[in-house]
Amino acid sequence: MHAISEEARRIVESVIDYSRRRALWQDIPLDLPDSPERLALRASGSITRTGIGAEEALRLWDQELAPTCLSTDHPGYLSFIPSAPSKASIAFDLIVSASSIYGGSWLEGAGAVYAENEVIAWLAEEFGLPEDAGGVFVQGGTIGNLSALVAARDVARRRNAAAGRPNPPRWVVVCSAESHSSIASAASVMDIDVVGIRPGADGRLHADAVERALDEHGESVFAVVATAGTTNFGIIDDIGGIADAVHARDVWLHVDGAYGLAGMLVEEMRPAYRGVERADSVIVDPHKWLFAPFDACALIYRDPRAALRAHTQHAEYLDTLADGGMVNPSDLAVQLTRRARGLPLWFSLATYGTEEYRSAIGYGIALARRIADEIAARPGLTLVREPQLSVVVFRVDGWSAADYDAWSERLLERQHAFVVPSSHEGEPVLRFAIVNPQTSFDLLCSILDTLVEARADRAA
Ligand SMILES: Cc1ncc(COP(=O)(O)O)c(C=O)c1O
Repeated sequence: MHAISEEARRIVESVIDYSRRRALWQDIPLDLPDSPERLALRASGSITRTGIGAEEALRLWDQELAPTCLSTDHPGYLSFIPSAPSKASIAFDLIVSASSIYGGSWLEGAGAVYAENEVIAWLAEEFGLPEDAGGVFVQGGTIGNLSALVAARDVARRRNAAAGRPNPPRWVVVCSAESHSSIASAASVMDIDVVGIRPGADGRLHADAVERALDEHGESVFAVVATAGTTNFGIIDDIGGIADAVHARDVWLHVDGAYGLAGMLVEEMRPAYRGVERADSVIVDPHKWLFAPFDACALIYRDPRAALRAHTQHAEYLDTLADGGMVNPSDLAVQLTRRARGLPLWFSLATYGTEEYRSAIGYGIALARRIADEIAARPGLTLVREPQLSVVVFRVDGWSAADYDAWSERLLERQHAFVVPSSHEGEPVLRFAIVNPQTSFDLLCSILDTLVEARADRAA
């Protein structure tokens, strides 16, 4: 398995050939999921005592397994949050794998950590954080949010300990009821309570509501989470107002910008993010709107020392890693062994430059506005809310959840697009999440056309 043999050469060549074809495929199919039963018929029996060989295993992958994995980088993939990695980032991901880089410590991965830190420093500067801000790339927004909240609670506990104050019976994190499900998940892992505040009519969490929650829950609150781009609507909370409310009270401000904080790279959008520069921690996922492959979340702390105190693991065999005095990425989050998952973004940024990023993100915002106008102008469709970033939510007048489901299934069967229904205040809605610069206005209009046809069919 490890020798450099003829077989090893053939395996590496064929896998690189496959990767080349997939990365440079012009019109990728969307593909279709399949049931476990049918996959068992198509692809079972691959794990044997003596192996089936790379050729057969790759054939199984290419012909039976891969076609059941949706292409999240297809221009018509518009559900959840799509992924649209740049060609440079995809290509470099192969290098990260081929090089067995350990990204957890400076001792083992100095150059990789240095390059990742260059990206973290650039993002921190864009977000207005101080020069000594620092962070790490973790697996995704869920782990990023969890790690930030763990650090925040640790700060609150230490503050209480230093002042000789008891900790509250239950710790509380305050956020919008529209905040991402990963906040509730983090709270469950941490065994703390979440106070989810109903946002204003504009969908934003406002400072006055946060202040009321802080008054009500007092010393129990150790952190407030503001969302910079909600998943369902792409709405940015009133981060500036929330920062005022929070800082008067020594409470940690975390900004969850897993999807939407990338929008701050677009100059005209900056005012909407006012207050991010005052956050104690922020996250943004490169695998969402920063065009990197799965999986990566940039987690940045205003003061990384707080994270080090909360997260550093201690063991006899690990202590040598701390001896050099360098910050080890492992010590900044809930993790130990880590892939240098920030490197594909580093390579892509270094290759294309930051302006390409700004314009690719700006394209998504402009397209969302344009298609929102188109939706508003089409009879039978109603725009639920003007998009702030690149998520457009609308409804088909008179449709039930079953109508949306049937239409969505047909759309995928025809390999046209992947648009699953979402819901808003209990009502089913449709949602375009636009991330991919290859998604065109014409493609979106052609999807709207199918809605008009489906409505006509239903009426007939
Ligand atoms: C606002 C927000 N926060 C957190 C997450 C969780 O990120 P991940 O899926 O990378 O764990 C998401 C995912 O869509 C999100 O949109």
